[in-house]
Amino acid sequence: MDKLDESVSQLHEVIAHLEQALNQSQQEIKVFKQVGEQERIYREQVERELKASQHLLQLVMDTLPEAIFWKDRNSVYLGCNQNFAEDAGVGSPKNIIGKTDYDLVWKTEESDFFQECDRRVMLANRAEQGIVQPQHQGDGTKAWLETNKAPLHDASGKVIGILGTYQDITERKQADIALQELNQKLELQTSELQSALDQLQQSQLQLIQREKMSALGSLVAGVAHEINNPVGFLSGNLQPAQDYVRDLFGVLDLYQNIFPNPGPEIEAEMERIDLAYLREDLPKTFHSMREGIKRVGSISTSLRTFSRADTESPVPFNLHEGLNSTLLILKHRLKANEHRPAIEVVTNYHEMPLIQCFPGQLNQVFMNLLANAIDAIDESNQGKSFAEIKLRPNHITVTTQLSTCQQWAVIKTQDDGMGMNEETKQRIFENLFTTKEVGKGTGLGLAIARQIIVEKHNGTIEVNSVLGEGTEFILKIPVEMV
Ligand SMILES: Nc1ncnc2c1ncn2[C@@H]1O[C@H](COP(=O)(O)OP(=O)(O)OP(=O)(O)O)[C@@H](O)[C@H]1O
Ligand SMILES: [Mg+2]
Repeated sequence: MDKLDESVSQLHEVIAHLEQALNQSQQEIKVFKQVGEQERIYREQVERELKASQHLLQLVMDTLPEAIFWKDRNSVYLGCNQNFAEDAGVGSPKNIIGKTDYDLVWKTEESDFFQECDRRVMLANRAEQGIVQPQHQGDGTKAWLETNKAPLHDASGKVIGILGTYQDITERKQADIALQELNQKLELQTSELQSALDQLQQSQLQLIQREKMSALGSLVAGVAHEINNPVGFLSGNLQPAQDYVRDLFGVLDLYQNIFPNPGPEIEAEMERIDLAYLREDLPKTFHSMREGIKRVGSISTSLRTFSRADTESPVPFNLHEGLNSTLLILKHRLKANEHRPAIEVVTNYHEMPLIQCFPGQLNQVFMNLLANAIDAIDESNQGKSFAEIKLRPNHITVTTQLSTCQQWAVIKTQDDGMGMNEETKQRIFENLFTTKEVGKGTGLGLAIARQIIVEKHNGTIEVNSVLGEGTEFILKIPVEMV
């Protein structure tokens, strides 16, 4: 019985233990349950917060004016904002996931370009900004985009994809394009206007000069014509006059033979007029009259050479005749005056074939160059006395020669006038540039000369000058004009 009691009491003890353990477990379960509940609440809260922040992020992205997208390493879209979804033609950002550019509305070459750009950015692991490109939109229009792309990294810094944003700059681009077009149009108009103006100035220049030259030309031609008549008259009568005189002397001789003693009155008169000398000198007088008439004739020819009317096409011309006739026209300016002795002209002519050219215009050039040379000499003589200048008389040298290749006629005019400074030298061929006082120079001479030589004759005109020493102009004209 005792044993039984002992067993019962041991059983009680076990039961009590078990109850205690059960209690403890129940306690623990309760605690676990509480913790679980707390965790669930916490998790739900975290999920809510995550959703809220995702929502906020999406909201932010959708509010931004830019389109935003991101892709994985293979350029597969992982997400985007509303703007991008609309441009891509998928309606909502969630529809973009898993797509590539080739699944969207862009053209194949545009998709090629985008993916090429993705690869470059991921490979170089460097962002690219401000990439301007055209893109086809979901609504079928073409937009201009300015895109930025940056590589995305994982925690270890490895490139795992790409983040892109872009802005529609269509309006700006269109304005740019319109502006560019406008600018081009304006530039074109400006250059057209400029060339019209140039042309106008050129024609004005030509008109003025042609007017000047034709006035001079017709004056010279008129003078030449007027001279011609009396010269013809003189030379036509000279021979008969000589014949008459010879006849008269014949009669005189006959008288002397038949009446060897004419009486003191006639003898005194014969002595007074020195008949023997008269007889000897008269042929010489006739000779020099003939020479004089010849000279006047050649002057008249020169004048006509100078005043040759302009021809439509180039004609063969003897440059030396042109130069000589120009010098003749300028003779009154070259000869001595009360301020200075004559300017000596040295002509250094070399053999030269006839040159195909516009003679009237070339004479005009020679005239301008030589007149300028005389002006420069007169200017350098300012303040010097006649005697002083006479010690070192002024010279103008005109040289002609063929170039070594025989294809160019080279004409040089040299003067020992005042020369020019560098600034003047740079500007002498400019229209209306003159250093001369009002009324003396119009500044057209060299502009015209340049135009005639360079544009009309395909030649060149160069100048060398040293201030205070003199100036040289070198003209080159092709022997045969093409
Ligand atoms: N031989 C020269 N020596 C020094 N200066 C010269 C010479 N030739 C020209 N010049 C300079 O070049 C300028 C322009 O010459 P250009 O013949 O074109 O005009 P201009 O002689 O002043 O006037 P225009 O010839 O129309 O009557 C002259 O004013 C002068 O300053
Ligand atoms: Mg001049």
